[in-house]
Amino acid sequence: MRFADKVVLVTGAGSGIGRATALAFAREGARIVVAGRNREPLAQTVKLAEEAGGTATAVTADVTRAADVERLVAETVAAYGALDIAVNNAGVLTMGRAGEIDEADWARTLAVNTTGVMLSMKYEIAHMLTAGGGVIVNVSSQIGAHKRIPGTGAYAASKAAVTALTRTAALEYIREGIRINAVSPGPHDTTMSLRPGETEADRAVRLGEQLPVGRVGALEEAASGILWIASAEAGFTVGHDLVMDGGSTI
Ligand SMILES: NC(=O)c1ccc[n+]([C@@H]2O[C@H](COP(=O)([O-])OP(=O)(O)OC[C@H]3O[C@@H](n4cnc5c(N)ncnc54)[C@H](OP(=O)(O)O)[C@@H]3O)[C@@H](O)[C@H]2O)c1
Repeated sequence: MRFADKVVLVTGAGSGIGRATALAFAREGARIVVAGRNREPLAQTVKLAEEAGGTATAVTADVTRAADVERLVAETVAAYGALDIAVNNAGVLTMGRAGEIDEADWARTLAVNTTGVMLSMKYEIAHMLTAGGGVIVNVSSQIGAHKRIPGTGAYAASKAAVTALTRTAALEYIREGIRINAVSPGPHDTTMSLRPGETEADRAVRLGEQLPVGRVGALEEAASGILWIASAEAGFTVGHDLVMDGGSTI
């Protein structure tokens, strides 16, 4: 119960890494607020958290819209009286070689992955400064600061920016009690790690050959890294970018 009574906000928590992370926090005693654009998947995350004995609230919000993010933080504080930990996880992947990137895809990728993290931090930090501190974990990616894969330039640019923004913000706010880090997952078990047209069986064969660890990452493994870096045990870890990639970038 490392997070007993902590209030934890997770964006992109209606699926994948975000849902697994929110549920892991709830299992360790946190009161969670789960956010995303679509109500139904968030309601399912709340149901799963409550079935596990947790306390959870869903808030629909689009992280590319400042007004939504401002309302999300306000509703979190209104619901539980605090915002102790924020996991900025919402993200999208688009594909296209540099000479062929669709401009709308480029704009959407940067809007969600980079501007979404900036806006989330902006309103989270504003609250945490008044509250005397907090913890922020931004979900970046191995693709970007750590690894390049053909066809993922827009995503790589958006995520390298998350890593840089995280480290700058970490320096800026640690003396005011806000500890900021990133995590950079490699391929984990969501649709995002499937190549276009690829089945899960195809992916298992590809990662079996390509990744040193020989398999896709489990969502619980990503969640456990996020929980550790958000925990008091990691109090001396500041501006870090924890790569969890099965050895892909060694
Ligand atoms: N899976 C991997 O292999 C992998 C590897 C490296 C990094 N990551 C990163 O891990 C994070 C989670 O990805 P995932 O694999 O769990 O994918 P996922 O299942 O597609 O989850 C992404 C979540 O983000 C939400 N989202 C998308 N756009 C949003 C917006 N504008 N505002 C609010 N929420 C939004 C989606 O919900 P709605 O559509 O309902 O809004 C969805 O729940 C992402 O940042 C991703 O880049 C994943």
